[in-house]
Amino acid sequence: MKVLIVGGGGREHALAWKLHRAKKVKQIYAAPGNPGIAQIGTCVNILASDIPGLARFAEEKKIDLTVVGPELPLAMGIVDEFQKRGLKIFGPDKKASRIEADKSFAREFMNKFGIPAPKFQVYETAHEARRYTKTINKFPVVVKASGLAGGKGTFIVNNRKEYEKVVDELLVQHRLGEAGKRIVVEEFLVGQEMSVFVLTDGLSIVYLPSAQDHKRLYDRNRGPNTGGMGAYAPYPTNKRITNIIEQVIIQPTILSLRDQGIDYQGVLYAGLIITSLGPMVLEFNCRFGDPETQVILPLIEGDFFTPLLAVAEKRLSEINLKVKNLWSICVVLASAGYPFDYHIGEEIQFKQKLDSKTLLFHAGTKMEDSHLVTASGRVLNVVTVYENLKIAKQRAYEEIKKIHFNGMYYRKDIGNTGMKKMKRKRRR
Ligand code: GLY
Repeated sequence: MKVLIVGGGGREHALAWKLHRAKKVKQIYAAPGNPGIAQIGTCVNILASDIPGLARFAEEKKIDLTVVGPELPLAMGIVDEFQKRGLKIFGPDKKASRIEADKSFAREFMNKFGIPAPKFQVYETAHEARRYTKTINKFPVVVKASGLAGGKGTFIVNNRKEYEKVVDELLVQHRLGEAGKRIVVEEFLVGQEMSVFVLTDGLSIVYLPSAQDHKRLYDRNRGPNTGGMGAYAPYPTNKRITNIIEQVIIQPTILSLRDQGIDYQGVLYAGLIITSLGPMVLEFNCRFGDPETQVILPLIEGDFFTPLLAVAEKRLSEINLKVKNLWSICVVLASAGYPFDYHIGEEIQFKQKLDSKTLLFHAGTKMEDSHLVTASGRVLNVVTVYENLKIAKQRAYEEIKKIHFNGMYYRKDIGNTGMKKMKRKRRR
């Protein structure tokens, strides 16, 4: 079987690594891929947003399954185009991708079907948005651009002045263009965040291990939001919370999407917050998480190609996915200055060979004159998998000492919340 992976970050390298291990998979292609993926597959110079180019490539190479990493091609309708051409593809179609690509649609959908979520308002003009300060006027509050903004569309706003500034930037100056044409103003919730992933063909649901992302730049969840500075899996939770997630969030979401004429196939990523009132949906995403994928896939027993193909062929009910009783952790190595202006082109050096058990997923790297150099904000993902989180964390940070590039920055506390939760659980 030949697989095409769309995208070129750490998530896509993890997908390529896992799919490459499946006996049935003989060839991996990635568009555009990265130097890490190039070690196990063939990278082709087609952008993830070039849908006609990707479809032509899949036809030419007789690709058996295309797996889409990022949200943009999904929201642009890559699945619709591939299916029109009779090409098998894993991911939701354009209509279903609105669950991520149109946040006001997603919030109204959750509201209509009683999926637990923060209270929200949708505004289309600055005049309307100012009503918030005249009526509710509660801070902090979360302001989100309704459309896709490449991770730059969420603002935690602490007071009226900051609120007016964000409203002006989005609805008057149109800083985020079309994506910020409409905004969603949401209640700010407090609790631990948890990323839940399910495979679905619109009928059956298969749960993948859950994870916790670390979105803030600095230790102890301080500083600006990033694409994710690290993750661990599984997220330690209890039966009561798991039941609520399954029965009150995931199952009703898939069923209600069907009720709305949306046949969701692919992975549904529910970004949850566990509040004192129970789990609530911060956001739904129509794709795998990054860096969560890097910690989830190493925990899946055996072949991951068969379940993804089963989704695309609408026979997920045949799949029985097994998960290893292990813990994994991913620490993201980032360029100095990320998530703002950062410097690239720094040579990446390995002072010592990494342990053979360590997984190194490339994100923003490229080859320049036979040297591996930094090419983006998030550069590398160091992933370790062990029988407990403490050892996994210790090993990951030992491995990081072997890697160097100028300005290399990483959080030192990935996994700490998980370890604290486990300690509390043991004490009970
Ligand atoms: N982990 C955050 C995201 O993938 O959106």
